[in-house]
Amino acid sequence: MDWSSLTCSAAVLIILLLPLGASDDRLVPSKPLSPGITVVSDGGDFALGFFFSSGSTPSNLYLGIWYSSIPELTVVWVANRGTPVTNGTSSAPILTLTNASNLVLSDSDGGQVVWMTNVGAASSSSSTEAVLLNTGNLIIRSPNGTMLWQSFDHPTDTFLPGMKMRIRYRTRAGERLVSWKDAGDPSPGSFSYGCDPATSIQMFLWDGSRPVYRSTPWTGFRVKSEDEYLLTKTSAIIINLAFVNNDEESYTMFTVSDGAWHTRFVLTYSGKLQFQSWNSSSSTWVVFGQWSPHECNRYGYCGPNGYCDETVLPIPTCKCFDGFKPTRTEEWDNGEFWKGCQRKEALRCSDGFVPLSGMKPPDRFAIVGNTSLRECAAACGRNCSCMAYAYANLSSSIENRDLTRCLVWVGELVDTGRLGASTASDTLYLRLAGLDAATGTKSLPLLSHYASVYDI
Ligand SMILES: *[C@@H]1O[C@H](CO)[C@@H](O)[C@H](O)[C@H]1NC(C)=O
Ligand SMILES: *[C@@H]1O[C@H](CO)[C@@H](O)[C@H](O)[C@H]1NC(C)=O
Ligand SMILES: *[C@@H]1O[C@H](CO)[C@@H](O)[C@H](O)[C@H]1NC(C)=O
Ligand SMILES: *[C@@H]1O[C@H](CO)[C@@H](O)[C@H](O)[C@H]1NC(C)=O
Ligand SMILES: *[C@@H]1O[C@H](CO)[C@@H](O)[C@H](O)[C@H]1NC(C)=O
Ligand SMILES: *[C@@H]1O[C@H](CO)[C@@H](O)[C@H](O)[C@H]1NC(C)=O
Ligand SMILES: *[C@@H]1O[C@H](CO)[C@@H](O)[C@H](O)[C@H]1NC(C)=O
Repeated sequence: MDWSSLTCSAAVLIILLLPLGASDDRLVPSKPLSPGITVVSDGGDFALGFFFSSGSTPSNLYLGIWYSSIPELTVVWVANRGTPVTNGTSSAPILTLTNASNLVLSDSDGGQVVWMTNVGAASSSSSTEAVLLNTGNLIIRSPNGTMLWQSFDHPTDTFLPGMKMRIRYRTRAGERLVSWKDAGDPSPGSFSYGCDPATSIQMFLWDGSRPVYRSTPWTGFRVKSEDEYLLTKTSAIIINLAFVNNDEESYTMFTVSDGAWHTRFVLTYSGKLQFQSWNSSSSTWVVFGQWSPHECNRYGYCGPNGYCDETVLPIPTCKCFDGFKPTRTEEWDNGEFWKGCQRKEALRCSDGFVPLSGMKPPDRFAIVGNTSLRECAAACGRNCSCMAYAYANLSSSIENRDLTRCLVWVGELVDTGRLGASTASDTLYLRLAGLDAATGTKSLPLLSHYASVYDI
């Protein structure tokens, strides 16, 4: 199917069918949407309409939003992923905006409701409207201008500029991107990406319930990065990725500079989280970044007490913490790291901690609230089964909140990394045999590659 011509003819249709003065970027209660017709945002970047699955069931119809100005159908949002509709023999599926300000998608031939928004509008009005903004956000607006619902709050597999990926503290609920099942099949696939519900301070990419990648826990910077991708000699995409935290929620968001190419984060059906931009000269999506580029970064790849050293270039590799050795030397030497590392010498309760800077701290930590660094060290030090701790003062990142972050680990250290100098890195204080707790002095010779990371 040629989607560009579908969009064009639909735009002509809308102009022909609409009463004078009505705009084609919105739905009102008296103007429903059916297959073959699209709503195009004012500015022409996005379209809302029905599209066919090109997967195993090509007669399945989905209601979605796609780039209107891109010839290759690129869907960024789908309403009825799990419940496709079909074009009936006597009638077509239909999207209606009700007087009570809800969008309702009904199937053909009998009109069973397969999807609807759940806006609890107090009053019913025929002048409510659903507008497709030029950012790709579909919003429902009450007659007084209040926004009642937005598609940006219900992401599918794509994260667009201006969209918030958030976690709400009270409910611990957060948004997730969920991959498509296949290239042409928008029904939910097995991969998902979102905030860790257990801690709310790190991001995960999962395959089903199994973690595939984990970000570093939040270290408290407000704006994480400002990356610039030079496209040509004269144009660039500047990405601001902000991590904002307030009393009710925390969220990440990215923005791009004006006039930049269409840009998106997408979780592909094959489980890759990619940052893509549309190159209109070559008519292709260019992948600028992918999480994560290295095999070594896969969740738990280096086994318990092993870590992925990303400072080893060009190919990061697994290492054992100092004071540890591979659990199975032969397998480790053959590149099978999953059994990890074990201590060379048993710990005693009196052993102290060595600071390792530039680290991605391990997973499975417990969070101790409101402490100083000294109290955090003491909390870990007095518990003989505490293996490590990491500390950050987040106060400067959060307005009007005194928040510190003391992470402690009991048992094996899983999914650790060494990042080197990076804004996202942490100092991990690791309990080491032969280290005097009281003075912090080393009584063991330590491997030379750690000499540079001591904080002393
Ligand atoms: C849906 O079916 C109706 C007839 O039932 C037909 O007129 C229309 O063209 C079909 N639409 C699409 C998009 O196939
Ligand atoms: C919506 O409101 C309009 C005007 O007030 C009215 O004509 C129409 O019947 C209402 N529709 C429904 C489904 O209640
Ligand atoms: C606008 O309308 C909504 C419901 O339609 C209502 O909840 C809200 O209080 C109204 N806001 C103002 C400022 O009147
Ligand atoms: C965009 O496409 C053009 C034409 O194929 C190519 O020369 C250019 O390098 C591409 N830009 C990027 C950033 O990939
Ligand atoms: C944190 O602890 C200090 C003293 O230990 C106390 O004064 C302060 O109120 C605590 N802050 C919070 C947010 O609990
Ligand atoms: C955290 O930092 C803020 C200022 O950035 C400071 O006022 C506060 O005392 C620090 N909290 C602790 C527990 O060190
Ligand atoms: C040490 O910490 C673990 C995990 O938090 C806890 O189960 C255990 O009771 C603690 N032991 C002591 C002696 O506090």
